[in-house]
Amino acid sequence: MLKTTVDPIYAARRKRLTQSDPDGLFVFFGRRSGRGYARGREPQAANFYYLSEYPELDAIILIHAGKSTLFTKVRDDLDEVWHGERYGPERAKEIFHFDAALPIESFDASFLSALKDSRRVYFTIGEDAGNDARILNLLKASQDARQRIQTGLIDIVDPRTRLSDMRRVKDAVEIERMRKAAKIAALAHTHLLRRMRAGNSEWDIEAEFVGSILKAGAEFPSYTTIAASGINATTLHYTHNNSLLRLGDLVLVDAGAFVDGYSSDITQTFPIGGQFSADQKTVYQAVLDVQRDVISRVKPGISIRSLQKHTVRRFAEYLIEWGHLKGTLDQVIESGEYRRYFPHGVSHYLGIDVHDVGATENTKEGVPLEQGVVLTIEPGLYFRDAGSRFHGIGVRIEDDVLVTKNGCEVLTSDLVREVAELEELRSRVN
Ligand code: GLY
Ligand code: MN
Ligand code: MN
Repeated sequence: MLKTTVDPIYAARRKRLTQSDPDGLFVFFGRRSGRGYARGREPQAANFYYLSEYPELDAIILIHAGKSTLFTKVRDDLDEVWHGERYGPERAKEIFHFDAALPIESFDASFLSALKDSRRVYFTIGEDAGNDARILNLLKASQDARQRIQTGLIDIVDPRTRLSDMRRVKDAVEIERMRKAAKIAALAHTHLLRRMRAGNSEWDIEAEFVGSILKAGAEFPSYTTIAASGINATTLHYTHNNSLLRLGDLVLVDAGAFVDGYSSDITQTFPIGGQFSADQKTVYQAVLDVQRDVISRVKPGISIRSLQKHTVRRFAEYLIEWGHLKGTLDQVIESGEYRRYFPHGVSHYLGIDVHDVGATENTKEGVPLEQGVVLTIEPGLYFRDAGSRFHGIGVRIEDDVLVTKNGCEVLTSDLVREVAELEELRSRVN
């Protein structure tokens, strides 16, 4: 079904982006079509989406002299029999608030013409070899001509720096969608808690999760579901999902929903039976305590890097206390030995992409958080060494949080996290 109205905020974003260089020529390519048939639903190129919400493949946005033009395929009855109804330039212009929309075939000529009075082209090289070749060939043609008439060279600038800064801080439209993505995924996770039992399988978990989010209005999962039971949970990117759930094991489920262009990213870990074992509870409680502690530190001015440092410190303390690491706290942190048990980051930006853009400055302290940033908080501990009393236990707890004026709001607060509540709920399933 085609959209009939689109929020004018996309046009406002295009204006905001190009205000930094009104003489610049900005080019954004949409996702390119590939070969094959009924290729399924895949997200639009993220920056292209952020600037338009236009869903069709092979489209291009050109912004120049305060004017945004969309290049897209014209309507074609025969082709639409195969691929469905298209907007066509005329409708796309109105619905998506472009100043102009033209058939895709006219892009090269329009680009060359706009180049005549541009000094800078904003285009990301390296994302797609076909797009690179096209733009570089056009630039070469133009540059040769400019050389003859001596109008100077054209710089190529990567627009991602500015776009990453914009996308890091979510606007009201984005926050509403992220709330929805978080809510839908949290409900699906809770559905798993209420249903999955010994004898079910990891693939049941994936199927139930994906079924739940699709029924609730998601477009697709935001990444491949990780349904990792028992020792499988100690493999961070476990996606085989081909084991049966065994009584006495924990299961770690890392799964999210892609809703209206935005991703959620949630991990819950729970016992397959009604109760945690003593060792499972020790690890789970430690991860939960650290997770709550880190969430309580999220506020404007704090950086993801400092949250990571704090998490490492907290986990190193536990690992020394449990006899898994030897030495002083500083030694354990310095040597990086803790990475054996906590090998990943505690947080990343979240948005259109699961690992969203936003890190534009390579400073030692990291970019300070601001109101409107959405990030995950996801500490985890994984024990793979046979000698450990916790051998085979993997626990990660991941929430999505929005930075507010003085702190943060947990967008995934519907999830059941406390040991007592989890056991109460789980004991009713088995
Ligand atoms: N699900 C991917 C991540 O947690 O970063
Ligand atoms: Mn994550
Ligand atoms: Mn995750």
